[in-house]
Amino acid sequence: MNIYCTEINFNLHPLRGNFNPLFLPQISHQLLDVKTFLNPQIGNLLKNLGVYIYIIEAFSQWKYPWTNYIHVDSQGQDIGKINWVFGGKDSYNQWFQIKPGSEGTPSITQANTGSVRYTLDEVDQTLYTYHARNLPFVFQAGIPHCAIPSENPRCCISLVPKWIHNHQSLKYSECVDLFLSYLVADAGLEPTTGAYETPEIPLL
Ligand SMILES: [Fe+2]
Repeated sequence: MNIYCTEINFNLHPLRGNFNPLFLPQISHQLLDVKTFLNPQIGNLLKNLGVYIYIIEAFSQWKYPWTNYIHVDSQGQDIGKINWVFGGKDSYNQWFQIKPGSEGTPSITQANTGSVRYTLDEVDQTLYTYHARNLPFVFQAGIPHCAIPSENPRCCISLVPKWIHNHQSLKYSECVDLFLSYLVADAGLEPTTGAYETPEIPLL
């Protein structure tokens, strides 16, 4: 199993009414109200699997160059998220190994969530690079990571799941297991259906 991200052949748009997240306000990190924005089909499917979506995060990037921070979400515990990337051609995600002894700097994000940030000086090496395709993917948010932008507007919609029975976040492997029947079998295998559409919008 890839421990950083795993594509899922999951043919549902994350947002109600196929709302195009590239039309969201141009805020680098915002929370979307779950009741208002979550595609109810996803909510129902997950409910049957004992899971609910706790928050929806939207990470938008319009301006280039764009400052991103190498970080772990929350305090760095193992957390699986379900991500969709809209637009952002040539952008990608990377995960990093941090130098021994580097503890990072705890910080509060623009969306008022916790994180620990690392400077480039604290990075030992790049562990993994992932270029998103037109597929959602389970994302390990507990290993230091960041999004490397391109000049193309990008919005990443990130659903954060929790178990209904104990309100704990799903670990990455739990999240992957949850979507096992939707997984793409091999790298390079295209989905049998068209996944979601990512209409391009012109630069303002
Ligand atoms: Fe993150």
